[in-house]
Amino acid sequence: MNGVRAEETRETSRAEFFNEYWKRSSLCGEVGDGLVGTDVRVNGWVRRRRDLGGIIFIELWDYAGPVQVVFNPASGPEGEGGDVHARAGDLRSEYCIAVRGKVTKRPEGTENPALKTGFVEIVAEDFLLLAPSEPLPFEVGEGTDRVDENLRLTYRYLDLRRERMQYNLRTRSRLYSFTRNYLTENGFIEIETPMLTKATPEGARDYLVPSRVNPGTFYALPQSPQLFKQILMVGGFDRYFQIVRCFRDEDLRADRQPEFTQVDLEMSYVTEEDVMTLIEGYMKGLFREILNVDVPTPFLRMKYWDAMDLYGSDKPDTRIPIKLLDLAPVYESASFEAFRRVLEDGGVVRALPFPGGASLSRREISEIEEKAKKLGASGLAAFQFRDGEVKGPLVKFMSGEELRRLGEISGLGDGDALFVIADASRLKACTILGTLRLELAKARGLIAEAAWEFLWVTHFPLFEWDDEENRWSAVHHPFTSPVLEQVPLMEKEPGQVLARAYDCVLNGNEVGGGSIRIHDPKVQAGAFACLGIDAEEARRRFGFFLDALSYGTPPHGGIALGVDRLTMLLCGGHSIRDVMAFPKTQKAQCLLSRAPDPVEHARLDELRIKCIPVEEETR
Ligand code: AMO
Repeated sequence: MNGVRAEETRETSRAEFFNEYWKRSSLCGEVGDGLVGTDVRVNGWVRRRRDLGGIIFIELWDYAGPVQVVFNPASGPEGEGGDVHARAGDLRSEYCIAVRGKVTKRPEGTENPALKTGFVEIVAEDFLLLAPSEPLPFEVGEGTDRVDENLRLTYRYLDLRRERMQYNLRTRSRLYSFTRNYLTENGFIEIETPMLTKATPEGARDYLVPSRVNPGTFYALPQSPQLFKQILMVGGFDRYFQIVRCFRDEDLRADRQPEFTQVDLEMSYVTEEDVMTLIEGYMKGLFREILNVDVPTPFLRMKYWDAMDLYGSDKPDTRIPIKLLDLAPVYESASFEAFRRVLEDGGVVRALPFPGGASLSRREISEIEEKAKKLGASGLAAFQFRDGEVKGPLVKFMSGEELRRLGEISGLGDGDALFVIADASRLKACTILGTLRLELAKARGLIAEAAWEFLWVTHFPLFEWDDEENRWSAVHHPFTSPVLEQVPLMEKEPGQVLARAYDCVLNGNEVGGGSIRIHDPKVQAGAFACLGIDAEEARRRFGFFLDALSYGTPPHGGIALGVDRLTMLLCGGHSIRDVMAFPKTQKAQCLLSRAPDPVEHARLDELRIKCIPVEEETR
């Protein structure tokens, strides 16, 4: 009956004894009706304790779920072995214990049908305190979503014991299994590429690692395995994949971490359609496997400029039933000069219709205007359709016919509102309205939350002008193929060239991005030249890659999916930190391990590195 006494009678090691006497015979969460009348052993954490007139009820928990354990002082360990074991009354939250007992039916009226174990309880005969717990910095059980995230991250091991985190990380693991099965079945092989490598430009800064044996030189942690996966195609592997960690030193947000995970793949002899079809099959299977949801395929395909014009975003959330409008037909010959001039000078007049927006107060309207200005708009004109009339500061400058056209083009009527931006830049006007569209839809609950809307955005520009750097930069990365017919345009009109790139968007989140690559070294050199990388620099940075391309490289293409974002969406979350075991904060710190850290001088000397003290740098 009592653990230690039983142990004394046997010539076994403590480990063997644990195995035989205390090791679980069942998971807590799986002690179901079928075990009634049997003796079980369970191991787990104490979650909740209720003392009812001497009888103590404990919710004992492991990853499979909770089970109720009853300690009856008259027959249980508290009555006897209290000096040897902790007394049941001393058990506190998150103490780790082993319990032996008999499974019985719960007395009528005390069942909990919400739990798999809700019709039974274990009447404890004996228990062993495996490890006590310090008082908890926060409640691990219910209601922990309100706990400050920094506290959760500092004590991540406790946070991970929460049901939500258990579910999230287990879902992530299922995604990994599904991925490996799906891709292997489709002829892919898994190959690892180096972590200590040379820079791969993906638009962020590199994390650098100094080399001790080659003083003064640095490795870069990969922003993605882009160059290596292309080289694997040169190497004849044809279909490669990898679940791979990538590192990017960039501004962090809820959907960005400095290290994150991609399902990265590459295929030879393919076109855009082959890669997109493969990923559609993957998503269909994944959503069936994890959520039992049927995702219709093929996904909608939308050209980049259509996405910008209609949704003001290159990752449109099509669950919101609002599309932007082009108001050129209203204003190109209008009496209202300010807008007409913008159009005459090659600019745009674009609008965000907002059904139900007539009820917005003056204050709310001016808050929306302020927001637009913060986003870079020189102004935002609001129209409200109320009592059969159009209201707004610009109404007095417009003719009756123009106002009628406004209503006609927008399809709006009484009760609605319209926000208009005139700007020299089509991209800017659309982007600002797109941001307002998202915010208003969120605030007003206009998003069909239960829907799963996948789409591909295609026909991106290959290059975009970078005002700060005063040069062209790659919209995706410099290895993306231009549309073949447009290769001759690259030199003369880089801004006009379209890319053979495709982004996979789910509910307004970019969950993947890929392209058909440049496989001709001359075209690759041309792309570098457009980006202001001259032949010498190209050789220094990418010589090994250009050489590889010159040895009979098959046409190839691929994609990388953001595992963190995808898992976040599958789990119904809003932050990728919640689907990562040990994420970093917005300031790229790990609160658990306290990284990054200063290092000893000796280590720096060895690496021949001298730090500029922070004070000096900011002086
Ligand atoms: P890209 O840069 O689009 O493409 O990255 C692919 C996907 O990775 C996810 N992602 C991130 N997730 C979390 N935190 C980040 N900081 C972060 N950055 C990107 C996104 C994104 O869609 N080499 C190319 C792929 C290719 O061309 O095959 C690449 O890395 O979900």
